[in-house]
Amino acid sequence: MRFGNLALTACMSLSIAVGAAYQGSAKDTPFPVRLFRQATPDDFIGKDACGACHEEQVASFSQSGHATYMEDPKLPIDKQGCEGCHGPGAFHVREEDSQIIAYLKLPAKDVSAACLRCHGATMKLSHWHQTEHGRSDVSCVSCHQIHPSDQKLKGSHGLVKQSVFAAARPSGKLLKADEPSLCATCHQSEVGQFRLNSHHPVPEGRMVCSDCHDIHPNKASSKKVGVVKEKCVSCHAEMAGPFAFEHDPVAGWMGDGCNECHRSHGTQNPKLLKGASRGLCSQCHTDKARNHFPGRTCWTAGCHVAIHGSNTDPRFLRR
Ligand code: HEC
Ligand code: HEC
Ligand code: HEC
Ligand code: HEC
Ligand code: HEC
Ligand code: HEC
Ligand code: HEC
Ligand code: HEC
Ligand code: HEC
Repeated sequence: MRFGNLALTACMSLSIAVGAAYQGSAKDTPFPVRLFRQATPDDFIGKDACGACHEEQVASFSQSGHATYMEDPKLPIDKQGCEGCHGPGAFHVREEDSQIIAYLKLPAKDVSAACLRCHGATMKLSHWHQTEHGRSDVSCVSCHQIHPSDQKLKGSHGLVKQSVFAAARPSGKLLKADEPSLCATCHQSEVGQFRLNSHHPVPEGRMVCSDCHDIHPNKASSKKVGVVKEKCVSCHAEMAGPFAFEHDPVAGWMGDGCNECHRSHGTQNPKLLKGASRGLCSQCHTDKARNHFPGRTCWTAGCHVAIHGSNTDPRFLRR
């Protein structure tokens, strides 16, 4: 109930915002937005009318996460039932030229415009279009399946049947699979990196991809530089100080911050390190490579043990 009311407010304000954003150029207006705009209240025929021809969808939809909310009679008519998503039924059943929002046939941009009529609290359309997914042909229905267990959906549109990691955490959120299995349908090599010796515990079900990746950024700023370090530090605060003596790459004054030395997904080397030898350090300290031989590594030989920074020693020999 609590969430329902919250979402309702978001829905109503967003429907105005989306409409406004497209005013002025009717040609660029996404088809779903146009369809809703040209409708009068009489064009909404109600769920029961759909059921006359789509019995199966109506029956299965009552188990869906959307159902409880969408059947609230207090909602504005263009947010209710099947038509809240598919658009006014009259244009589909009455007119010669059947018009309906058919998500699996629409271009990705039109799908996101249709879903974001209501999901403005998750993100704005402009934010979505700045993401790599929004810019490519990936759409909301590439990852989410709205009708529960729709057996007719196949291939890239169906549920992902096989899990890449047996212990992966189930995802909910109407996703087609647990996160790593879902992402693996398009990002196989990144998911494969989690099979290397040292890895973040995604295969063990202790983490998911979206702990680090904002799939739905709700601020344009989340694409800015520094995001890698910020993310890492949200779980590993103790590695980032502040220290009396900071190590520049850790402090993030230059380059990729934590990822100057680490890889985020997995490595063959211990501790997610990019290198297992002093070569890791000599990518920057080239002078030391020639005249400074601490042993195999600079940090396990007992020397630079406080590699992230120190409160007592400017050369990171003690914590
Ligand atoms: C009089 C029967 C009838 C009614 C009532 C009806 N439909 Fe349909 N609908 C059809 C037929 C037939 C098709 C398949 C032909 C086609 O693809 O257009 C279809 C197809 C669809 C599709 C898929 C379109 C596509 O291009 O893949 C959607 C979505 C849909 N209907 C939603 C609805 C909704 C929502 C309602 C209620 C507002 C509704 N229908 C009411 C007969 C009906
Ligand atoms: C929250 C949005 C939403 C609601 C509400 C909704 N649908 Fe859908 N519908 C979709 C999406 C998205 C798809 C594409 C397949 C999928 O994701 O399950 C779809 C697919 C369909 C299809 C086409 C299936 C195909 O194989 O192409 C029909 C028919 C349909 N819906 C009818 C209905 C009916 C009838 C209702 C009301 C009981 C309804 N939908 C409610 C979003 C919705
Ligand atoms: C008419 C408004 C409306 C439309 C259109 C709509 N949704 Fe929703 N959706 C909601 C509301 C409200 C909820 C919250 C329901 C709940 O949690 O009980 C919800 C829930 C969800 C959830 C689950 C959230 C959770 O926390 O489990 C997902 C995922 C989602 N919608 C995706 C979509 C996608 C994808 C589309 C487009 C195909 C879409 N929605 C279209 C209103 C809408
Ligand atoms: C690349 C896959 C992917 C795509 C594409 C995608 N989502 Fe999601 N979505 C996720 C994942 C993973 C989660 C759960 C983790 C999270 O909340 O970030 C999620 C969660 C959600 C939620 C519930 C969380 C919340 O913020 O309340 C909603 C609503 C939602 N998505 C809507 C959408 C809409 C609308 C679109 C299209 C504009 C979309 N998604 C596109 C993967 C995706
Ligand atoms: C339907 C295919 C598809 C799915 C499913 C998918 N992605 Fe993507 N993803 C893409 C495409 C296409 C791009 C654009 C860049 C490219 O071609 O690699 C992209 C880009 C990305 C990027 C940005 C890469 C960059 O260069 O900035 C990240 C991060 C990402 N995806 C993570 C995820 C995660 C996490 C999931 C699962 C929740 C996921 N993706 C699911 C297709 C997909
Ligand atoms: C511990 C945080 C973390 C986790 C967990 C994580 N990633 Fe990443 N991922 C990153 C960071 C940081 C980058 C960008 C820097 C880099 O290339 O290492 C990245 C980059 C990517 C890219 C873009 C690669 C490229 O070459 O541009 C994709 C795609 C991606 N991740 C997918 C995933 C998928 C799928 C999962 C879950 C199976 C996942 N990530 C889990 C932190 C993470
Ligand atoms: C959502 C929380 C979270 C985020 C964000 C996160 N980590 Fe982790 N990290 C973990 C967990 C959990 C472990 C496993 C600790 C364990 O096994 O006890 C871990 C382990 C590590 C390890 C040690 C691996 C080993 O083999 O001992 C390193 C190094 C590491 N993370 C670096 C990073 C970097 C770099 C980033 C940013 C790209 C990052 N982490 C982001 C949660 C996180
Ligand atoms: C200059 C290279 C370098 C940078 C930059 C760096 N690290 Fe490390 N990190 C290391 C080395 C080397 C180790 C292994 C230390 C060891 O084995 O005692 C390590 C170990 C770790 C561990 C595992 C600690 C443990 O006790 O198992 C975590 C977690 C970690 N780093 C997180 C981070 C985070 C977060 C950042 C960014 C804020 C970061 N690192 C930046 C070199 C670096
Ligand atoms: C991405 C570049 C980079 C990497 C990789 C890196 N460092 Fe540094 N390090 C710096 C910079 C920049 C400074 C401060 C400026 C300078 O050289 O005086 C610094 C300072 C130091 C200092 C302080 C003493 C001094 O010379 O000022 C030590 C000790 C040190 N690094 C050790 C290491 C070790 C050991 C590794 C490998 C685990 C390593 N660094 C990896 C860039 C790096």
